[in-house]
Amino acid sequence: LIRRLADTGDLPDEELCRLLEQLFCHEAEEYRDILYKTARKVSVQTFGNKVYVRGLIEFTNYCRNNCYYCGIRAGNKKASRYRLTKEEILLCCREGCALGLRTFVLQGGEDMAYSPQDIGDIVAAIKQTWPDCAVTLSIGEHSREDYLLWRQAGADRYLLRHETADNAHYGKLHPPKLSLKHRVQCLYSLKELGYQTGAGFMVGSPGQTIECLVKDLRFLKKLQPEMIGIGPFIPHRDTPFASESPGSLTQTLVLLSIVRLMHPKALLPSTTALSTIDEKGRELGILAGANVVMPNLSPDGVRKKYMLYDNKRSEGSEAAQHLDQLASRFAAIGYTIDFGRGDAPSFR
Ligand code: 5AD
Repeated sequence: LIRRLADTGDLPDEELCRLLEQLFCHEAEEYRDILYKTARKVSVQTFGNKVYVRGLIEFTNYCRNNCYYCGIRAGNKKASRYRLTKEEILLCCREGCALGLRTFVLQGGEDMAYSPQDIGDIVAAIKQTWPDCAVTLSIGEHSREDYLLWRQAGADRYLLRHETADNAHYGKLHPPKLSLKHRVQCLYSLKELGYQTGAGFMVGSPGQTIECLVKDLRFLKKLQPEMIGIGPFIPHRDTPFASESPGSLTQTLVLLSIVRLMHPKALLPSTTALSTIDEKGRELGILAGANVVMPNLSPDGVRKKYMLYDNKRSEGSEAAQHLDQLASRFAAIGYTIDFGRGDAPSFR
């Protein structure tokens, strides 16, 4: 099945289901190693032994939504809230640029204190100051009109994980006000507007079944996003999911590899959540076929406040200030940092 998946980039749903069941088996260690190796080879064919870096600026942890899994949900009264000014965001970019970064990811909750114009102004200022840099937005669901405004202001990419492609499961993770249908509409708008678009999902979120995961894979195949974000679910103590179990390292790596085989040219990050559940998580993600990392470029004072889940890492090699540490970790597995803009191959 792995061979056929690698050769054709897809399998019928029933076979994807069987493949996942087999690979999730505790004893399937050798089978998983074949999968990882195959996915890694596919990644290296397109991107070489290189990993793109993005500077992640978490500019606001205010959010109007109340997703059951997320630490910065509106209902979490214990979260200490902050928002950065345009000037503070530009300072982060200045620092990031000096460190060699050429993509800035502006991520935040759905914070209505910034008007669409405010966001557009921030994007335009970054693009004017550093024309050779890419700007990625990751600020949730908005109108097509706003997405258009930001695209015209110069935004290049947009990350909006679909979280789960199963309707009922979506309803278990989110309050009724949010819908999979609207999330998917947003993703199609973003694609149409010419954004390099990222979707993705958590592995091991409460209520997730293998059938849900097959739907995720099917949805991604249909959407054909340029970027795909996959990380384990990790509980946060001040959410309704506080006592749920986290997603597993193995299952996350398996999904990363399968997604790589189904999307040979996708930009696939080895996520912070993966490196939070395992000390070697980031490297293992790369060895399973990922080719992007997103070190933290937020100001020191706010890093600890953007707690999507417990113990979220933002220090050491997770910090943009320590790219040297990151580089030596990569060197140890035979990879180097690629300081280019790292556009999707189809956009170059
Ligand atoms: N565990 C893992 N990932 C999470 N995210 C939010 N909360 C959690 C959590 N508890 C992810 C979501 C979101 C991204 C920014 O972070 O998938 O899209």
